[in-house]
Amino acid sequence: MLQRHATVADVRSALKKLPSPQALVPTMGALHEGHLELLRAARKKVGPEGTVVVSIFVNPIQFDRAEDLENYPQPLEEDLALCEQEGVDVAFIPKAGSLYQKDHSVIVTDSLLSRHLCGATRPGHFDGVLTIVLKLFNICQSDYAIFGKKDFQQLALIHRMVRDLDVPVEIIGHPTVRENDGVALSSRNRKLTAEQRADAPRIQRALAAARDLVTTGEQNPQTYIEAARHHLLKEKPEDFSIDYLELVDHLTLQPISKLTAPATLATACFYGAVRLIDHIEIYP
Ligand code: PAF
Repeated sequence: MLQRHATVADVRSALKKLPSPQALVPTMGALHEGHLELLRAARKKVGPEGTVVVSIFVNPIQFDRAEDLENYPQPLEEDLALCEQEGVDVAFIPKAGSLYQKDHSVIVTDSLLSRHLCGATRPGHFDGVLTIVLKLFNICQSDYAIFGKKDFQQLALIHRMVRDLDVPVEIIGHPTVRENDGVALSSRNRKLTAEQRADAPRIQRALAAARDLVTTGEQNPQTYIEAARHHLLKEKPEDFSIDYLELVDHLTLQPISKLTAPATLATACFYGAVRLIDHIEIYP
């Protein structure tokens, strides 16, 4: 039976009474099959006797565009039904705005891994993510926390925060879940029109076409980026545009000057106002 708690005090006292190990799956709701896979991975990790906690909170401080926050889907009852169906033990569903004091002034900031990719085009986004994730870790004090690898920059930053701030939680990255046509599952997909959704496989296709150049021994990052750009923009719909397209070292997330170690080709693209991210790993 799923327990629902809306306050920090309530969820803390509930979790104290529930068995260990405990695994947390932080989400912003609008759950899809990708989230359900995270919940299943959490259950697998803690076993039938352990505790699976999901948090559902649309974190206002990680949105850089007011319009994006306003339009973020929030089908709470649907989400809770899915949690129930997946055998989640506790849903932490704080009320909008309730997790931050009016005069809150402390945030978590990274100074390296967030310099490029989404960190460069969404100022303050990762400060918001790291701050809420650390708060959730402090509130829930779980043994494990599970995140999707789709948001690979977010995952790298969370690993870094846990390492640098000695946070006592084990982070588990779960593989990206894709539709049959290659589109990575995302809560934002439901904001696409039918035409935009039908076109969206172009993103993973473009990244894969660029990645395949590795078989030729190509080491110039620009060649990969230009190939991906070409495929992204070829016969594109009018409302499609590239936010960023970068090839970065897979550990430091800094742009590379030569492909000699594993790297990640990553992009964010817009269909109108809907922003989708995706990436592909390249092993030289
Ligand atoms: O990936 C997300 O859904 C969010 O960034 C997270 C980790 C739940 C923090 O709000």
